[in-house]
Amino acid sequence: MFVTFEGPDGSGKSTQAELLRAALAAEGREVVLTREPGGTALGERIRELLLEGDPMSPWAEAALFAASRAQHVEQVILPALERGADVICDRYLDSSLAYQGIARGLGVEAVLELNLRATHGLLPDATVLLLVDPAVAAARSGATDRLEREGDGFRSRVDAAYRELATRFPERILVVEADRPPDELAREIRERLRERS
Ligand code: TYD
Repeated sequence: MFVTFEGPDGSGKSTQAELLRAALAAEGREVVLTREPGGTALGERIRELLLEGDPMSPWAEAALFAASRAQHVEQVILPALERGADVICDRYLDSSLAYQGIARGLGVEAVLELNLRATHGLLPDATVLLLVDPAVAAARSGATDRLEREGDGFRSRVDAAYRELATRFPERILVVEADRPPDELAREIRERLRERS
C-alpha cells in the first residue's frame, strides 16, 4: 500500500506517519517511511533551496517540488512498491495541489498535470488528511521555514485548500480531525485504512 499523510504545518502528520510505520512493521511488514520535499540526496538539496532560499516565483516553487517528487518516485517509492513493501510518505502531491495549486493560485488542474507527468501518474492508495484549527497549528509549528513564515492569511488559505481537495477526491482522501491525543488518532487512522483495504 502507498499511504500519504497531508495537512498544514503543525498538524502532527510526521508523528502519525511514524506511528503507522511502527504499527505495520510490528505486523511483520516491510515499510518504507519517507518524506517530501526530500527523500533522496537530490531531493534534500532541492529541499534546502525551497525552505531556506530567497523568495521565488510560484511556478519555480511548483517545479522544484515536482522535481524533488520525480526523483523520489523513481528512486525510492516505485522500487519499494514493486518489491511489495508498504510506503508511507509524509507529504506528497496533495501538498503541491494545496500550497501551489490553491494557496498560491496556480490552479489545481495545472499543478496536477505537472505532477502526474513527474510521477508517472502515481497516486496514493489512500491519503490521510490531518486537519486542525489553523491557530493551533501555527502555535505548534513555530514558523521556521520560508513557507511557514508566510503568515496567517496563507495558513488559512492552505487549510481551506486541503478541505477543498478532500471534497474533490473523496475516495482517496480520509479526513481526520487531528486535535486529539496522538495514540487515539493513530488507532482511528489504522481502523479507517483497514476498512479501505
Ligand atoms: P515540511 O518541512 O515537511 O513541513 P512540515 O514539517 O510541516 O511537514 O514541509 C515544508 C514546507 O513545504 C511546508 O510548509 C509545506 C511545503 N510544501 C509545498 O508547498 N508543496 C509541496 O509539494 C510540498 C511537498 C511541501
